[in-house]
Amino acid sequence: MIPFGALAPLFHRFGERIYGEEIKGLLRVLIEDLPEGAHLADIGAGTCVLSHLTQRYRDDLTLTAIDPCEKMLYYCHDDITTHIAGAEAIPLEATSYDMVLVGEALHHFRDVDAALDEIDRILKPGGKLFLYDFDPTHFKGKMIALFEKLMGEPAHFFAPEEIAKKLEGFGFACEIKTASWRYVIEAKKVEA
Ligand SMILES: C[S@@+](CC[C@H](N)C(=O)[O-])C[C@H]1O[C@@H](n2cnc3c(N)ncnc32)[C@H](O)[C@@H]1O
Repeated sequence: MIPFGALAPLFHRFGERIYGEEIKGLLRVLIEDLPEGAHLADIGAGTCVLSHLTQRYRDDLTLTAIDPCEKMLYYCHDDITTHIAGAEAIPLEATSYDMVLVGEALHHFRDVDAALDEIDRILKPGGKLFLYDFDPTHFKGKMIALFEKLMGEPAHFFAPEEIAKKLEGFGFACEIKTASWRYVIEAKKVEA
């Protein structure tokens, strides 16, 4: 398994670099039209890299971070509510979040279907999902997937089209915003 607790200082120091300007720009645009004081949940938040980015772009958001590794959550800003928990059982109320962030974390979830069920449950109708991950059909993505398998991680990597199809099965409308060895999917929970 990857020792996230021991690596937490490195994720805190260098974690933002993995996102790059294009990805950050997509996140910035996606949060622009969220309502004042919108509630965001960062799932597999780690050291809260994505949450901190959203705070840089807007100062009115209410953030909650979920991660099973307490030492990663230690670095989240004090105004972010943290819960030590996995994505498969999110300790948050149903239909209470405007947006969910999942950054390079979905492939670590033990049970992706259970996690997507939970994300769907906590989102309000019309709520958004920002999903960032690595494409195992590209060389770099394949190398990351291989490394994680060797480390004993779940390594649930999906090509963007594949995870978009899965998300549609959970009632999301999806748009693949950028797709190379890493991709961003913006998904919207279809209104009932
Ligand atoms: C590569 S880090 C990414 C952290 C952060 N989202 C970022 O962008 O820097 C992956 C994170 O997934 C977390 N994780 C592992 N298993 C998980 C699970 N079942 N549910 C939620 N998060 C999990 C790890 O503890 C780790 O913090």
